[in-house]
Amino acid sequence: MQNSGSIRVTVVQNNPGFGQPEANRTSVEGLIFAGKDPTADLIVLPELFATGYQFLSKEEVTELAEPEDGPTFQFLSRLSRETGAVVVGGVPIRRRGGVSNGALVVSGDSLLVSYDKVHLFDRERDLFIEGRSPLPVVETPFGPLGVMICFDWLFPEALRSLALSGATVVAHPANWVLPFGPQGMILRSVENRVFTVTANRVGEEARGGLPPLRYIGESQIVSPKGEVLARAGQSESEIITAVLRPADALSKKVADKSDFFEQRRPELYHSGLTYRGG
Ligand code: ACM
Repeated sequence: MQNSGSIRVTVVQNNPGFGQPEANRTSVEGLIFAGKDPTADLIVLPELFATGYQFLSKEEVTELAEPEDGPTFQFLSRLSRETGAVVVGGVPIRRRGGVSNGALVVSGDSLLVSYDKVHLFDRERDLFIEGRSPLPVVETPFGPLGVMICFDWLFPEALRSLALSGATVVAHPANWVLPFGPQGMILRSVENRVFTVTANRVGEEARGGLPPLRYIGESQIVSPKGEVLARAGQSESEIITAVLRPADALSKKVADKSDFFEQRRPELYHSGLTYRGG
């Protein structure tokens, strides 16, 4: 952590070749260490950053899945030791009953937490098992860090639950294909007054006759006030960085008498029929 409670955040935007985890990990490392100073407090990598995304079958998923302490954990752990950062990255995790679309949060030799994506997107629902545990908030040297994966963002309750649990910074590995993610995440950051760190990928996948997927890039770091502190381009592998103060996410006030969290009325938020005609 730098003076004044500031932290340095790095986002890796990559273009993984499908089914080539070793080569993809090596190219991520190349991106991080190509810069002048690779040290950071937090590094976020995309969803499924080492495997690629467009799996054709559960068998393919199983083949590329890893245990929590597998090669991807070992890689993230080495990155963490070499940069000083807490490192977050997406990996298919072997679980009882199937494979999750997961993320690992690693600090030095320790796995701080693993997360199984709760809201699976489209064909993911045929390939992965759904996460069954709440979205995690984990203590780090720079305060409480929340984690969600890609499509989770379109469920406002996901980031809200992380913010209510005290997260000031939220790591968001993604493989965005829908165009409105980058803009949408600005509102998510504002309505929860948290920093969001989205690591997306670029490139295209068109495997096995499936409709092609084009990943939109635009990885970004957004402040609690909705400022885009850094944003990547739409087509290149690259690194973006920002320096931010997690403590700036502690106040939920937008005006003297308006505090987002204090003014919530959860007792009125329900799906019951409230319309009374007549
Ligand atoms: C997504 O959740 N990967 C779109």
